[in-house]
Amino acid sequence: LRLFSGSANPALANEIAGYLGIPDGPRVSKSFADGEIYIQIQESIRGCDVFLVQPTCAPVNDHLMELLIMVDACRRASARQITAVVPYYGYARADRKTAGRESIAAKLVANLLLASGVDRVLAMDLHSAQIQGYFDIPCDHIYGAPVLVDYLATRDLGEVVVVSPDVGGVARARAFAKRMDDAPLAIIDKRRSAHNVAESLTVIGDVKGKTAVLVDDMIDTGGTISKGAQLLRQRGAERVIACATHAVFSPPAFERLSEPGLFEEVLVTNSIPIPPDQRFPQLQVLSVA
Ligand code: R5P
Repeated sequence: LRLFSGSANPALANEIAGYLGIPDGPRVSKSFADGEIYIQIQESIRGCDVFLVQPTCAPVNDHLMELLIMVDACRRASARQITAVVPYYGYARADRKTAGRESIAAKLVANLLLASGVDRVLAMDLHSAQIQGYFDIPCDHIYGAPVLVDYLATRDLGEVVVVSPDVGGVARARAFAKRMDDAPLAIIDKRRSAHNVAESLTVIGDVKGKTAVLVDDMIDTGGTISKGAQLLRQRGAERVIACATHAVFSPPAFERLSEPGLFEEVLVTNSIPIPPDQRFPQLQVLSVA
């Protein structure tokens, strides 16, 4: 068994390698002056089970291309089986057409991975579970919820209500609530006026006096979760805790999430690395290694 990290999240790959008691394997990854990527695996992997750890987070296109080239390098080096470990799957939100003449980029990414020669994909909290079906090879879909819920179990939360920040996230929030001793569920009716612009309208369910645990797959610009938190506060929630597997954190997420008095805590995982200047006191980063 061999593990190699791409350049997207070497810290996570290293931690996984530590659990397995194997090294994060030697490889060269560099970019040419024009941006083309060069990969070389620096040990024999003939006949090996190879795991490539690479979330396709920002810069999404570079990290995706690097992963494809890594798979190709391993295929040509006669690996027996290649698993792409993609803790964050970029383009997952482009999982269907919502208007005419759009692309379904999540499917295109799956096609590219298949074409590169990957045998198996391990993904985490895909934006929609149906993306598993885009692969005609095994796709293991795992969840950050157990890690997030274990952390919450160490807190004195009082009366909890789990909240989905939009209708699309209800199944995810319901599963999360089930893990939290069948906590009650509330739903925010979110409408979008444009991409990356969230407008929260109303809360369905009772949050007054409770600790609201807002659950989402990802926090990108922070619009969805911060608008949701503001609304929950207006509706009388005593405390608001945000939980999301993927800390995409595009600007202005930092300003939105660190707004004083809004979130008691913001829980995310290390599926995507978070640079030191994007961290703030309420942020807790839990490991999914
Ligand atoms: C949308 O359906 C997703 O589950 C997230 O709620 C969304 O992508 C988060 O984006 P932002 O933080 O930019 O509102």
